Order: sequence, then C-alpha cells, then structure tokens
Amino acid sequence: MRAEFQRPRGTQDILPPTSQKMEQIRRIAVDTAQRFGYLLVETPVFEQTPVFMRVGESTDIVQHERYSFTDTGGVDLTLRPEGTAAIARAYVENGMFNQPQPVRLCYYGPMFRRERPQALRYRQHTQFGAELYGSVQPEADAEVILLACAVVEKVGLPDPVIRVNSIGCSKCRPRYREALIGYYQEQRSQLCPDCQTRINTNPLRLLDCKIDIAIREQAPDIKEFWCEDCSAHYSQLTELLVLSGRQVSRDPFLVRGLDYYNRTVFEIGHPSMGSQAALFGGGRYDGLATALDGPESTPAVGFGMGIERLLSVVEKNFEILPLTRVYVAHLPGFEGPSLVLAEQLRREGFPAESDLLRRSLKAQLRDAGRRSGVVVIVGGQEWEQGEVGVKWLENGVQMTVKREELSDLLRRQSE
Ligand code: HAM
Repeated sequence: MRAEFQRPRGTQDILPPTSQKMEQIRRIAVDTAQRFGYLLVETPVFEQTPVFMRVGESTDIVQHERYSFTDTGGVDLTLRPEGTAAIARAYVENGMFNQPQPVRLCYYGPMFRRERPQALRYRQHTQFGAELYGSVQPEADAEVILLACAVVEKVGLPDPVIRVNSIGCSKCRPRYREALIGYYQEQRSQLCPDCQTRINTNPLRLLDCKIDIAIREQAPDIKEFWCEDCSAHYSQLTELLVLSGRQVSRDPFLVRGLDYYNRTVFEIGHPSMGSQAALFGGGRYDGLATALDGPESTPAVGFGMGIERLLSVVEKNFEILPLTRVYVAHLPGFEGPSLVLAEQLRREGFPAESDLLRRSLKAQLRDAGRRSGVVVIVGGQEWEQGEVGVKWLENGVQMTVKREELSDLLRRQSE
C-alpha cells in the first residue's frame, strides 16, 4: 500500500475486539459518572482557535502540538487537544452559570495532539473526563478525584494511589515562582536546552523535566510558600480522600503541563506504563471560564483520563466472549427462507446471521464453527412440514423442532 494511503503517523485503527473493550470502558465510565451526578456533554471536536489559546500559550499542546487550520470561510479552527477548555466554553456560552450550582458534567471522545509518537502517546487519543463547576471547596476536588478512582477501579484496577500537589494561587505562587527562578538561574549552565527556555516562559514546568531530575531535588518546595488558604485547602482535600478510603501521596514535583491550574493538581500512573505516562490527571482551574468571558468567579475542578492507556493496563480483565450467534444455514435453493428466518430471529432478540455466499451445507457448517454456538438448518422435507433442524456445535447435539417452537428452544438453551 502506498504510504499516502496509510493512516497518519501516531493514529490507530481500533479494531474488534479492542473496540469492543473500549466501548465497555466507555459505558462503565459514563455510567459511574452518572451515579455521581455527572451528565454527558458533547462539544464539537473543533473549536475556534482562541478557545484553546486560553489553556496557556506556553503549554506544549498550544505552542507546537496544535492541529490548526483555516477553513474556507477564513475562520481559524483547532482540533481539540483536550476537553476542559471546550467544556468551559460550552458552560459559558450556554449560560450554565445560571443553573443551580454545582454543575457536574462529563465527556468522552477523541483529542488531537501532534506529539512525538511513542508507546501510549498518540496523535489522536480518547479521553473520558469530568468537570465540576461552581464550588471552591475542597469537597469538590475530593469528589472528582473519587469519581476518577471509581472509574479505574470499576474497570479492574484496584487501590489506585493518587499523587497530589497544590501549585498555590495568585496570592502565594508569585513568591514561589521567584524563588524557583532564582534557584534555577544558579544552575542554568547545567540545564537541558528546554529548561533554559522554561526559566523565562514557564518556570513551574522546570520541576516536570524528565532530564534535569537531580537538580530539582534541591529546588525550593512550594509547600513552604503556600498561603493559609492554599494550605488549608490541601490538607482538607487529602484528609477527605483518606477518610473516603483512598491512598494519597504528595508529589512536590507534580505541576501538570497545562497553564490553567491553581491549587490542586493530581495524577495517577501505573507501573506498566513507565514514569512519563499518566492514566488520568487533572486539577482545579478557577480562572478558565472567566478568561472565556464567563462570570467573574467561576470555580471549577476536573480530570481527563486516557482510555487507550487505561485499556493497556486492564486489557486482560476484559475477555470478550464470542456472542453465541445463531447461524441459519440452508440446503441448496433455500437461501431466501434462511435470510428471512435470520431476520425473524433477530427481531425476537437473538443475534443471528445467515449465509450470504450460497455455500454448500458442509461449507456453511464449517463457517458456523468459527463464529456461532448453534446452527439452524433450513430446507428439505422438514421445512415443508414446518420444521427446522437445530445443531449445537459445542456438543454436537442435534434435533428437529417445529418452527414456532424454535425461539423457546433457543431461549431455554441460552439460559
Ligand atoms: P492531560 O494530562 O493533558 O490533561 O490529559 C489527560 C489524560 O489523557 C492523560 O493522563 C493521559 O492518560 C491521556 N493522554 C494525554 N495525551 C495523550 C496522548 N498523546 N496519547 C494517549 N493518551 C494521552 C488534560 O487534558 C486536562 N484537560 C485534564 C483536566 C480536566 N484537567 C481539568 N479537567
């Protein structure tokens, strides 16, 4: 196949049974969210580019990982790299701040980032996320984290350990930023080229660097700079999580890659994915909706979860059993009746299929063996007498039944 006909780098074709497993995860996630009161929202997969610029112009996803294009009407559009800004836009645009607060929302769908492709890092990935609007309290942070944990637990990942940090607020973070810049300036010559730039553009991300790990060990800890409110928020949140039976550990280097956060940030990883990949991550972002022309005070907190990554660690828990399909085979000349019988069975609720290649009965039975549990045989004398043959492939049991008794028999056998 010519290269230009192949799928773009960093994307995947998700085929059965993986697609079936992902669909199961989607159902579990959305259903769990609903139990917590978070209802599904669907926004367009592209937005006007300025919506995402509010995520932070110095973040990777905005700076150099954007899939942006100008449409034929001259509008600058971007495929969504994440859901939070899109949901914030929808919250403001649809006046959801006028509804009783808090507003609990969730979403599921594809996200697009032109990242360097590597294991579990795709240019199109799927996220399940939840966003809670309208509460500044630590109970809100706790609830979204508990929801994220409930989802990963329900798909088969027991006892997640949540790494949490607080990156402070507009009151206390500037002082920390200064201290951090001061410290890193002294180490400048030893820093990787990215970090040399980060000192000026996004100093908190210095802590996130996967290269300059030794240097960050001695860096000032933001905890020492938290104002009273941030300190209380953090300790109340972690206490709530522990009281709810969750394991929490503070990660002083956790700052997250998006600029909109304040106070709480959190992530969980998994040993099988290595240190660079997170299963889900999120935090509080009290200023984002306001930056998108929302009301003055619009507190919010949420998380995003990578479904491909989640599936990679729980795949073995999802055994997709082949459906016990009814295979309606036919003797020569009975193609029509077999197609009609398959349709009648489907209407009665049985997954059923018939042969579409006009094969010999022997070839049909061979085919049925690959995909079915039970074969119904249409044709011959039996058919003239209002009967069909039934054969269970697993044990070879065979019988003839009246057509009108077929459904009852199949139903009894599948119970
Ligand atoms: P994020 O950490 O950029 O946060 O992405 C959330 C999750 O999406 C990650 O933890 C990871 O599982 C998955 N993910 C991200 N990029 C990729 C990729 N290239 N390939 C595969 N999986 C990926 C956000 O997007 C925020 N909007 C989360 C949030 C919601 N914060 C507050 N509310």
